[in-house]
Amino acid sequence: MQIITSFIKIIILTSLICSCGKVNEQAPSLNSINEHPDTWRVEHRAAYIDNSNQCRECHGTDLMGGITKIDCFNQAGLGECHAAGHGPRTVIHPIPFSDPVLHGAMAKVDLTVCQDCHGTRGGAGSDPRFNIVYGSLPQGCETSGCHAPQMAHPKPWKTHASSGNQANACALCHGANFEGSVITAAPSCKSCHKLLPDGVVPFAGQCISCHGNPPNGTVTPNIAGSHAAHLGLTGMSGNCSACHTGGGAGAANHAVSLTVGFAPEFGQNPSFNGSTCSNVSCHGGQATPVWGVSLDVTANCTKCHKSATTYPGYHSGEHTIHLLKGLLCTDCHDMNNQAVHFANVVTPVFETSPESTLRTYLNYNKSSQSCMVSSPTPAGVQFTGCHGGSQAWQ
Ligand code: HEC
Ligand code: HEC
Ligand code: HEC
Ligand code: HEC
Ligand code: HEC
Ligand code: HEC
Ligand code: HEC
Ligand code: HEC
Repeated sequence: MQIITSFIKIIILTSLICSCGKVNEQAPSLNSINEHPDTWRVEHRAAYIDNSNQCRECHGTDLMGGITKIDCFNQAGLGECHAAGHGPRTVIHPIPFSDPVLHGAMAKVDLTVCQDCHGTRGGAGSDPRFNIVYGSLPQGCETSGCHAPQMAHPKPWKTHASSGNQANACALCHGANFEGSVITAAPSCKSCHKLLPDGVVPFAGQCISCHGNPPNGTVTPNIAGSHAAHLGLTGMSGNCSACHTGGGAGAANHAVSLTVGFAPEFGQNPSFNGSTCSNVSCHGGQATPVWGVSLDVTANCTKCHKSATTYPGYHSGEHTIHLLKGLLCTDCHDMNNQAVHFANVVTPVFETSPESTLRTYLNYNKSSQSCMVSSPTPAGVQFTGCHGGSQAWQ
């Protein structure tokens, strides 16, 4: 019986090959047992893309079998090929495409697009396998040396932040509400994004799924410390790199270990010893208070200002002699207006003219750089033994 069937097939196909030959010299030839070559399952795609009319000559103009009875839409016995009743489709990407630089970038835009051909069916929480056998991939995307089973992306995946259509693409395997898969090892997004409310994906660029802006809590990685006091200053809003140069979003060590490093405008060789900072220009290069312990700016002038010609030191005129006589900085300077005091800490120069902070009873004359002290001294000034008359400051 088999022999007879083969014999009939040979007759039909011999006549077919002859007629095909007239139409197109490049039409695929069949071997001696009237089959495509062994490699045809891989090669037929390229051949179809090159000239699909050739295929129609034997497989029917509608590609539903024709004289060959091999139906391109729903052929029984050919496994997953063209399953679910779809016909031959144009591959949306170039071949070869195995280089992750190429296909990774495209996959990141929207994994559900790849799922359409490379993955099994299913929506949020269905844990589709990406194991459809195609061409050079004996286990689909889960082929040895490619992606691990049940995972259609690399691990670790440091750059997942910029993947697209997360609400749908990640929900496929990370749980319908991103709570993690009950079937596979796909974790909840919250396992790392600890501040994330239930059922939502992190929003790129906001950072608040892990840190407050500024950090404002008590648990890593959101420990408040002295962040609010610094980030509230002019020029410091969102300026994480002022003190975390080399770290933060996108850095190799981000979320692996803590990086404290200072931007060059904050002095020469500033450093942090795990508790206090040294050589930071804003603090006059002096050891700072312990991170997280507050500093009373209205009383602790000398924590930052010392006698020095370098920013923000004091050096002009008769500072030394007055201080030796027991005057306080605040006897002459009124820094109550803090917005003026720290007009822009990012630049290592005084933004506000120092004389604008001098108390009015001094009657400081900028052009002659001299004082004419009124008496009696006003309330709030502790020193009362001031000299009368005009005195030069310089
Ligand atoms: C000369 C006739 C003829 C032409 C032209 C032809 N086929 Fe076929 N095709 C057959 C026959 C006969 C079979 C069944 C025998 C076999 O499996 O090779 C078949 C089988 C197939 C199979 C199933 C292979 C398998 O592994 O089971 C595929 C896929 C296929 N053809 C694709 C194509 C494509 C794509 C083209 C156009 C580029 C094409 N064929 C052109 C005759 C033809
Ligand atoms: C319309 C169907 C279709 C879609 C959509 C699709 N692919 Fe493919 N892909 C194929 C087919 C078919 C092959 C096998 C081609 C061959 O070997 O002839 C393939 C092969 C590949 C290969 C192996 C290529 C090689 O060089 O061996 C990779 C990698 C790949 N696809 C990645 C992707 C990614 C990533 C996406 C989503 C952006 C995607 N594919 C979307 C059909 C598709
Ligand atoms: C086909 C299923 C699947 C899809 C789709 C998927 N993941 Fe995963 N993902 C997994 C599995 C499984 C793991 C756990 C792997 C392990 O720990 O062995 C995982 C782990 C991860 C990890 C942790 C990796 C690590 O280093 O521990 C991140 C981050 C991640 N996925 C992000 C995403 C994002 C973002 C998306 C959507 C763009 C996504 N995943 C889509 C299956 C998937
Ligand atoms: C293994 C830990 C881990 C898991 C699990 C994880 N992420 Fe992330 N995610 C990170 C880290 C670390 C970053 C910051 C990356 C950087 O340096 O830019 C990040 C950043 C992001 C960002 C950018 C956030 C921002 O504020 O800019 C998005 C969006 C994101 N992840 C989505 C997801 C989604 C969706 C899932 C679950 C499918 C997920 N992540 C699971 C560790 C993880
Ligand atoms: C004025 C300097 C400074 C600025 C500006 C700054 N930080 Fe920090 N940050 C530090 C110091 C110092 C530590 C170390 C605290 C410790 O080791 O106890 C730290 C620690 C951290 C930590 C780890 C704390 C934890 O929870 O484990 C995170 C996260 C952090 N900063 C994020 C930020 C972000 C985000 C910004 C910008 C919005 C920022 N920082 C701006 C100085 C700064
Ligand atoms: C998945 C959680 C996660 C997300 C999202 C995230 N971070 Fe972080 N970040 C961390 C962890 C964890 C640390 C390290 C804390 C430690 O070791 O004390 C850190 C540390 C930092 C630091 C301190 C410097 C460093 O690298 O150690 C900065 C600055 C920072 N993050 C900024 C950002 C910014 C800006 C974003 C948003 C674009 C962001 N982070 C998003 C988890 C995250
Ligand atoms: C935390 C460190 C710090 C403390 C404490 C501090 N200062 Fe300053 N001071 C600075 C810095 C930095 C500048 C430069 C700010 C700018 O121009 O942006 C400055 C500027 C000044 C100026 C120049 C005028 C101006 O406002 O820019 C005077 C005067 C001054 N401080 C006096 C004082 C007095 C008096 C006290 C105590 C009541 C004091 N400072 C406490 C850091 C400090
Ligand atoms: C007797 C009054 C007096 C006292 C006390 C005093 N200052 Fe001054 N300070 C001045 C005058 C006057 C100027 C010069 C204003 C100008 O011409 O720009 C000045 C200028 C400054 C400047 C600007 C840089 C400079 O040297 O001109 C700083 C900073 C400063 N003082 C900080 C302090 C600090 C900190 C203290 C306390 C340790 C202090 N001053 C005590 C009167 C005083």
